[in-house]
Amino acid sequence: GESIIVKSLAEKMSISAGEVIKKLMELGILATINQEIDADTATLVANDLGFQVDIKIEVDKETMLVQEQEDAPDTLLARPCVVTIMGHVDHGKTSLLDAIRKSNVIATEAGGITQHIGAYQVEHKGKKITFVDTPGHEAFTAMRARGAKITDIAILVVAADDGVMPQTIEAINHARAAEVPIIVAVNKIDKEDAQPEKVKRQLTEYNLVAEEWGGETIFVEVSAREKQNLNELLEMILLVAEIGEYKANPNRAARGTVIEAELDKGRGPVATVLVQNGTLKVGDFIIAGVAYGKVRAMMDHTGRRVKKAGPSMPVEVLGFSEVPPAGELFYAVEDEKLGKQVIGERQVKKREEDLKVTAPKVSLDDLFNQ
Ligand code: GTP
Ligand code: MG
Repeated sequence: GESIIVKSLAEKMSISAGEVIKKLMELGILATINQEIDADTATLVANDLGFQVDIKIEVDKETMLVQEQEDAPDTLLARPCVVTIMGHVDHGKTSLLDAIRKSNVIATEAGGITQHIGAYQVEHKGKKITFVDTPGHEAFTAMRARGAKITDIAILVVAADDGVMPQTIEAINHARAAEVPIIVAVNKIDKEDAQPEKVKRQLTEYNLVAEEWGGETIFVEVSAREKQNLNELLEMILLVAEIGEYKANPNRAARGTVIEAELDKGRGPVATVLVQNGTLKVGDFIIAGVAYGKVRAMMDHTGRRVKKAGPSMPVEVLGFSEVPPAGELFYAVEDEKLGKQVIGERQVKKREEDLKVTAPKVSLDDLFNQ
């Protein structure tokens, strides 16, 4: 994975491990000299100490073939902002996501929505916003290491009764490393023991200072349970999005990121993907890691079938040969033959890697101790 031992990080910068540990403490992380820290945290520490970190991006040359040609500025059009909900376990990320969705779903939609999905779009004041549930911090780092930046804005959810917790701090560090603006949603304000002011005070220690306290961070007090202040949160998101001026080129082959995927009994591999550039169409040949296939059908977040999906649109995709891992990049490949060749080479490489991982497990000791 993308991580480094504290000691090696210090060695790479030719400074004492103590200094690194001190910096980590400033970021709210208590670490020992032999502790592994994730790439995002390491980046923040190194940047603070005046160093640059290059996370090794392993993009094979075959991938380069299907990847990016730069988009000319005049091909770029405005796209909806993509918002990720992050925060400590149980602070209400999924509840907030569900609450926003439910209070924005148009009543006439057939059947309504019951099942959980990891990504969807809402419309507020005529503008679309794409929401993505936190993919888990590990997946988030993995995405970044692959050069995938799925989110434009991070919503940091902090439960008002629980306050700042270890994964709150991790989330802050991840968002900072990805250089995305943070909006704080202080959740569960309906609870009797809610202390939103305490959350505000705690977060000042991490340089998230509320506007009314002279800072620049937007805080919105919400209750996912009571659906309180959700419109205000959407308002703030659009305000931040306006500054970002997010753009993409809808007139090219699609690429994006797999948000989540599973094997459905009836439908086979089903992947929720976020299109980040280009337009994905039914019939396109797509690859994601060693998974590939022709897009057989696509559904938007309401379950409605769609023929195409443009930038910032999350869709469910049917047609993959196998379940692609969450966080994997996907590409629509115009040249199907080339796509299959890339997959073939990737599969060989993966098999070699799998062998490497399993080989050392059988040692002489193991054999003799049986
Ligand atoms: P993980 O995905 O496990 O990290 O949790 P999460 O952050 O997605 O939290 P989740 O939405 O699952 O909510 C955790 C618990 O908090 C659930 O029991 C929710 O019902 C409760 N909860 C979420 N939001 C609120 C709220 O605004 N008020 C109250 N009182 N409870 C809430
Ligand atoms: Mg959740």
